[in-house]
Amino acid sequence: DTHKPWSGRFGEPLDRLAQRFNASVTFDQRLAEHDIEGSLAHARMLGRCGIIPAKDVADIERGMAEILAEVRAGRFAWSIEREDVHLNIESRLTELVGDAGKRLHTARSRNDQVATDMRLWLRAEIDGLLGVLKALRTRILDIAEQHAATLMPGYTHLQVAQPVTFGHHLMAYYEMFSRDTERLVDCRRRVNRLPLGASALAGTSYPIDRESVAKELGFEGVCENSLDAVADRDFAVEFLAAASLSMTHVSRIAEELILWMNPRFGFVKLADRFCTGSSIMPQKKNPDMAELMRGKTGRVYGSLVAMLTVTKGQPLTYNKDNQEDKEPLFDAVDTLRDVLSLLTEMLGGLTVNAERMRAALSEGYATATDLADYLVRKGLPFRDAHEVVAKAVKTAEAAGKDLAELSLPELKAFSPLVGDDVLKFLTPEGSVASRSHIGGTAPTAVRAAIARARSRL
Ligand code: ARG
Repeated sequence: DTHKPWSGRFGEPLDRLAQRFNASVTFDQRLAEHDIEGSLAHARMLGRCGIIPAKDVADIERGMAEILAEVRAGRFAWSIEREDVHLNIESRLTELVGDAGKRLHTARSRNDQVATDMRLWLRAEIDGLLGVLKALRTRILDIAEQHAATLMPGYTHLQVAQPVTFGHHLMAYYEMFSRDTERLVDCRRRVNRLPLGASALAGTSYPIDRESVAKELGFEGVCENSLDAVADRDFAVEFLAAASLSMTHVSRIAEELILWMNPRFGFVKLADRFCTGSSIMPQKKNPDMAELMRGKTGRVYGSLVAMLTVTKGQPLTYNKDNQEDKEPLFDAVDTLRDVLSLLTEMLGGLTVNAERMRAALSEGYATATDLADYLVRKGLPFRDAHEVVAKAVKTAEAAGKDLAELSLPELKAFSPLVGDDVLKFLTPEGSVASRSHIGGTAPTAVRAAIARARSRL
């Protein structure tokens, strides 16, 4: 049918290209269940406030139950002539229950309706993501616990810096994903407000009860200003910013896994089920999933920039530009959920090569700082100690040896302050064990951090 609920004042039907260009139902049908949920709460409120008769509310409930069943069974006949999810459902409702269906839109506009649907949808997705993040954090804690004492080089500038434990390194990511969690929880509070009642923009002259609708839909409260209620999409921007940051964290760990899997490092092996081969080079095992995690970060950033740009030039209040909020948001949610889940599974299938990690530590003078600190404890000012150790490294390098491989007399030659006890400070075990404060890399500190994290999770 070409008749549109808004076409009464028009002299010709919508141009065919314009119709396709304007329609959002191909993608916003994803909001269907939330659209129905919102309509039901609205209709019940209209009934309670005496705006429509109780009989209409019952008819609307009956019709919506049928529509919900059709949607869930995949037999709802979506049509682009009916433009979007809202008009598709409303038209079907009227087919099913007659005049009651035509009364549903009293004291409402698609402007407050779509904002409500988006908020209901995003709230549910945030809750799902919080569950996925929790599973990932739990997985990280489990692996960090197994490797609380596994030694590896810590890097700055991708050059060996100081010994750390692999558990400590993983716990850095635990912190990042915990902050991502906090950001989503915080964003959820602002998503969780009801726009309905704003109607098109100015509110409505019917004696509505917005608080009761908010309560029924589980919103924390109502949007305080009707203009803001239909114009605002900053809840979506905020979510996308949080999602982008989380993708950044995923991308960084993905990059490290790729690097560590390279045989020059050989620190880890990714399970075969998360790798792919080459159609020409028979020997290849490539970390495609990790690369895709890194690569897909770009599209989530793209969604954030798209949403910011969609919003920036709009005069108040609602403009059709806002229909462009959906695809970026849907895509970002799907992408983030997938990469977080995949990362959790991939970490579960990780094989850690502790020998290779340990061996990499003997190649970069990782305990040079420990030797300097040793001299400081014996009374040398730090800057002088730095100088002495730099010379020791230079000498060791020329001899092709690690600091710990130098003999006691060789070490003593660098400074009269070097005593017989020096060797135990030059081992990576001694180095990490001495960093036992909160936030340090000592196995004891890592285990304490894990215990604290578990009690908060
Ligand atoms: N499909 C529209 C959207 O996504 C629904 C709101 C339409 N409102 C309007 N006044 N044309 O934003």
